[in-house]
Amino acid sequence: MLVVAAFILTAVLYFVFKKHHTENGLHKFPEPPGNFFVGHILQAPSTENAIAVTSKFLDYGKTIRLRCGPAACPIIEGLVTKDYNLIEFILSSNKILTKSENYKFLRAWLRNGLLLSDGDYWKRHRKILTPAFHFEILKQFVDVFELVGDIFVKKLEKYEGMSSVDLHPLVILLTLDIISETAMGTKIDVQSGHNSHYLKSVKEICRIVIERAFSPISAFDFSFWLCKDYYKQKKALKVLHGFTSEVLNSKKGQVFEKTTKKMAFLDLLLKFSRDENVLSNDEIREEVDTFMFEGHDTTAAGICFILYCLADHPDVQAKVLQEQKALFGDEKNPAVAYSDLQNMKYLECVIKETCRLYPPVPVIGRYTTEEVNFEGYLIPKRTNIVLFIYALHRNPDFFPEPEKFRPERFENFHTSFPYAYIPFSAGARNCIGQKFAMLEMKSVISKVVRHFEVKPTQPRHELKLSVEAVLKSVNGIKVVLKKRH
Ligand code: HEM
Repeated sequence: MLVVAAFILTAVLYFVFKKHHTENGLHKFPEPPGNFFVGHILQAPSTENAIAVTSKFLDYGKTIRLRCGPAACPIIEGLVTKDYNLIEFILSSNKILTKSENYKFLRAWLRNGLLLSDGDYWKRHRKILTPAFHFEILKQFVDVFELVGDIFVKKLEKYEGMSSVDLHPLVILLTLDIISETAMGTKIDVQSGHNSHYLKSVKEICRIVIERAFSPISAFDFSFWLCKDYYKQKKALKVLHGFTSEVLNSKKGQVFEKTTKKMAFLDLLLKFSRDENVLSNDEIREEVDTFMFEGHDTTAAGICFILYCLADHPDVQAKVLQEQKALFGDEKNPAVAYSDLQNMKYLECVIKETCRLYPPVPVIGRYTTEEVNFEGYLIPKRTNIVLFIYALHRNPDFFPEPEKFRPERFENFHTSFPYAYIPFSAGARNCIGQKFAMLEMKSVISKVVRHFEVKPTQPRHELKLSVEAVLKSVNGIKVVLKKRH
């Protein structure tokens, strides 16, 4: 009797799922070969092979469907795309603004900060936070970029003449120092070995978030509680949230009236809140935590890949140096102003070209909260869609000889395809910090180039790219530094 009941139940479920499946438009998208019963779950990429596996999947179509479960009635299915039209459709839509489900692992740290929130709450916060990134505000941060950059260049001197230096562990300290001072108005001096507990907690949480995204055990909250990492995460969060709360509490009593004093993002948020009573303390803390995360890992990746590309292309590096000399003569430590950074036009092309080839955020994800109609395909409610920026940036229709590093392509770059180049995403949920990031990267790279010749290692260091929250290289990003005299 039980067997018959189980059979009937399975048959009913099969037909329900199958009906749902054939009625939705997902089955119309091509599917790379997968296991008949379990789908693509066995080929699920790891951080280290994500680029290779996803690129191979995308040989079957510009947008492909991946599934978990039997072909006729999958339990979970989603789309991965490098298709310009679909990417434009999604990013220009005012309906598809929710982040995909794999962002949820960041929630324990960033809670409802701008990166993760959605709906009216996100809209309201985006409106409140946008003035904090006005260029008049960003101008004030140039001094921070420069002073923290000076410490960085001093530290690099120790590596001069060595057969190789791995940039990432050094650059991440630089960008953390910068974001801490600009977002919270607090120096943490991790470059000088201070606040190692904060640094350790940032690293720990980033590791756990990535491992959860790829682990079938710790991905689920109920089984994560049984893992050691759950307790490690708890400990790290105590440090991270404790730190921002402490800074916030220490500033609450301060008065920010008409003052010429430099204001960090946190000061501005406190001032807005006091003047207009718009954000609670928890909301402010969540936004500052979000800036702390989004504002250091991304720029660190950018800076490392730019220096790597400059090492590989001495002709390009010579042009960057030439531009510096045109601005500052032979002065290695000029007083760099905001307008100088604006005038580094060739360096800007170098940064853009590097972010095309090595987008610091190589993948973003969206989730449909209602059915959407894309060119006649009905994409159902609750579909996760992965936008593979890394592959989009290699489309030869938009970037001829896409694997070639050629900054000149961004000189007089005009396009009728505004979504073909999107390192900072595009549309309503684009990066709020992109101007800040551009200024920071220009300040740091120009300083390094004035002080050092950056050369490739012998033999040349080949990157092994891995897709984590940002693009990384598992074997480091190594170059050789030679001091300029
Ligand atoms: C090279 C550096 C950077 C790159 C490549 C980058 C890239 C991106 C991308 C692709 C997104 C969209 C994410 C998504 O759709 O899931 C994003 C969002 C965001 N970024 Fe950046 N970012 C950089 C630096 C920064 C900095 C310095 C800050 C803050 C100071 C920042 C703050 C944010 C925030 C708050 C969001 C969420 C915006 C929203 O959803 O309204 N980013 N960034």
